[in-house]
Amino acid sequence: MIGHKVITFDEVSSTNDLAKEFCNEVDSNGIVILANKQNKGRGRFERRWHSSDIGGVYLSIILAATLINFDPKLLPLIAAYAVSKTIEQISDIKTFIKWPNDVIVNNKKVSGVLVEKYKNFYIVGIGVNLNNRKENFPIDIKEKATSLFIEGGKVYNKEIFLKDFFSSFESVLESFNSLDLIKEIKKKSYTLGKNVNIKVADKNIFGKVIDFANDGSLLIESTDGKIEYINSGEIVDVN
Ligand code: BTN
Repeated sequence: MIGHKVITFDEVSSTNDLAKEFCNEVDSNGIVILANKQNKGRGRFERRWHSSDIGGVYLSIILAATLINFDPKLLPLIAAYAVSKTIEQISDIKTFIKWPNDVIVNNKKVSGVLVEKYKNFYIVGIGVNLNNRKENFPIDIKEKATSLFIEGGKVYNKEIFLKDFFSSFESVLESFNSLDLIKEIKKKSYTLGKNVNIKVADKNIFGKVIDFANDGSLLIESTDGKIEYINSGEIVDVN
C-alpha cells in the first residue's frame, strides 16, 4: 500500500537520496519519504528543484521492481497523472500533463517527477508546488513555475493532498491498463496536436505531436514528414 509508512523529515538533502536508505526494510514497497524542505532537491538532467519553500511537497515513493507489472518507463507519466487527478480532486484548477513528467497549470509548471532505479527498486520522486509563494520562487523560474496557492488563491491542506494522492497513485498502479492510461493521458495532454521542439540527447526534433504509444513514448510527425517515436527527451518549446 502506498504510504503505509510515511517517514517525515524537516530538512533533507534530497528525498530521492534518503529513500535509498529505506530500501532494505521488509516492507520497503510503498514507503514514502517526505520532507518539509530539501537543500539538494534534484530534477531531471541534473537540474536543481527549488525546495526551500515549506509550502512545497517533496516526497519519494519506494516501489519494488518485482511488483511492477508494466513497462517502468511509464512510471513518470503515471505519477504525473496521479498528481494531476489529485489537484483536480481538491481544487477547481485545470491541469495538463506535459510529457513525460510535468504537470502544467495555466501554461506553467506545478509539479515534476524524477524516477530513479536503485537496486531492485524504483524511487519515484515527486515535487508539487502546493502552497509556494511567488516571491519565494528563484528568479529563473518565476515566470515558468506556479503553485496551487497562486492559481487557486487559497492555502491547500497538505495532509488531504497527500492522502488523495497516495490513493490515486495506488489505484492507477493496481488497476493498471495501458490503453486506459494512454487514453487519459491524451485527454490531459498539454502537447497533443501542437508543434513542439524536443531535445533528444544532443539533437533537436521539430514536429507535431500526433499520438502516444502504449509504452508512453511520444509520436511526432517531424517537419520533414517522418514519424518519430520518442521514448526519452525533453520538450523545450510548444506552439
Ligand atoms: C523535474 O521536473 O525535473 C523533476 C523534479 C522532481 C523533484 C522531486 S522533489 C522530491 C524528490 N527529491 C528530489 O531531489 N527530487 C524529487
